[in-house]
Amino acid sequence: MPNPLIAPPLIAPSLLAADFTTLGEEVRAVEQAGADWLHLDVMDGHFVPNISFGPLVLQALRPHTKLVFDVHLMIAPVDPFLAAFAEAGADRISVHAEAGPHLHRSLQAIRALGRKAGVVLNPATPAEHAIAVLDLADLVLVMTVNPGFGGQSFLDSMLPKVAAMRAAIDASGREVRLQVDGGISHATARRAIEAGADTLVAGTAVFGQQDRAAAIAGLRQPA
Ligand code: DX5
Ligand code: ZN
Repeated sequence: MPNPLIAPPLIAPSLLAADFTTLGEEVRAVEQAGADWLHLDVMDGHFVPNISFGPLVLQALRPHTKLVFDVHLMIAPVDPFLAAFAEAGADRISVHAEAGPHLHRSLQAIRALGRKAGVVLNPATPAEHAIAVLDLADLVLVMTVNPGFGGQSFLDSMLPKVAAMRAAIDASGREVRLQVDGGISHATARRAIEAGADTLVAGTAVFGQQDRAAAIAGLRQPA
């Protein structure tokens, strides 16, 4: 298991902050710039107060990149759409603990599709919701903003939850990535890593910058 205090974090630029008129070029650009994963934020206008894109966009982008597609589903109910995202090219699928009554079943379904399964915790959702299903999780995402929009301010009040998840993951002995998403900048990346995060989602801090390679390198070493 990578020790987040030693190993550099994985950087997952969020497509939400890309130029939607040239998505193929945008994705190729962050791949060349050294991104580890591509984070894809799917919003339904019901679970969160915004609408983004669905499986057709993943399918269109899939031939343009070898990047891992890290799909963050902000939709409810989520179970009826898992297969569509897997078929469209998702490598990893993360679902909110709050997105349905049967989180355990959703994680089982993602694994049955042969994809890595993630649990997402909203700011008001305690770590215990992910700890209860940690045996089925390949990733836990601690939201550091309320989901729905890019460009919001990082919630420092989430850092104790990141630390609690770090302890629980280490105690489990399983390989589970600990991801943070929302308001990640050079400054907040450092605090998240120090709390135990090993995977950083960054929208504005990567796609919003002219020099994406410098932006990604800066997040990886936020000294
Ligand atoms: C928010 C999304 C985030 C968002 C992050 O609901 O899950 O991935 O795109 O954007 P920034 O990095 O700009 O806060
Ligand atoms: Zn996200």
